[in-house]
Amino acid sequence: MQNTFTPIANDTFIAMFTHDLKTPINSGIFALEMLLKNSSNNLNDYQKELLNDLLNSSKYMKRLTENALCKFKAESGKLTLNKEKCSIKTLVKRCIEETKYILKDKKQTLNFNCVQNDITGKVDIVEFTRIINNLISNASKYSPKNSEINITLKKLSNRIYFEIEDFGCGIDIKELDKAFEKYVRLANNQKSAGTGLGLYITKLIVDAHGGNIKINSKLKQGTKISFDIPA
Ligand SMILES: Nc1ncnc2c1ncn2[C@@H]1O[C@H](COP(=O)(O)OP(=O)(O)OP(=O)(O)O)[C@@H](O)[C@H]1O
Ligand SMILES: [Mg+2]
Repeated sequence: MQNTFTPIANDTFIAMFTHDLKTPINSGIFALEMLLKNSSNNLNDYQKELLNDLLNSSKYMKRLTENALCKFKAESGKLTLNKEKCSIKTLVKRCIEETKYILKDKKQTLNFNCVQNDITGKVDIVEFTRIINNLISNASKYSPKNSEINITLKKLSNRIYFEIEDFGCGIDIKELDKAFEKYVRLANNQKSAGTGLGLYITKLIVDAHGGNIKINSKLKQGTKISFDIPA
């Protein structure tokens, strides 16, 4: 008997494709990290630099595929949050630590302001991490070398407030309300790579946590994105 294949919708195909890409990308990241950690003494500076470049682009690829997958899950109603109580302050610090490699190339400085000793809340740790990574990635990508990025975290009346500010190219006020649409890349962004999914995903996840997100920006001055979610 001949095998027949039922045609699948484009979106389903992309969801399966991105899902399948995750495993080899993660293996590559793991192998490169092991190599850099365990064989560092046997590598010269040029070899280390090449491996680090490869590691950074693999991490970038990982973020893009995970964003695409998150989009398809959310749009097919399969984005279910696994909320757990945790220290949001520690989580944000960990995200900052993990995204340091993004800032290193452009020699940018990230300042973290949180005066409260600890901030706890109930979030989906994986999805919350995705929000912070996307916002840090944008703040860095759309800002010049040596610039500063400020992150503020606080808890007030049982809500968690997060804000990220950069001093980059900013967004034209006429385009601001388009920023959270999917596949949108604005006029300020003709050169850099990306899918235009980062802010769309970010808003989906903030909404799913019962939160609000807003953006303020001035062309050539910078951008401030803030969100709050129930603790
Ligand atoms: N901090 C920012 N400063 C200036 N422009 C921004 C900033 N963040 C986002 N934008 C603009 O909004 C658009 C959408 O951002 P988004 O993060 O969704 O996509 P991307 O960065 O282009 O690609 P991706 O995040 O999928 O790699 C960007 O293309 C850019 O034009
Ligand atoms: Mg982005």
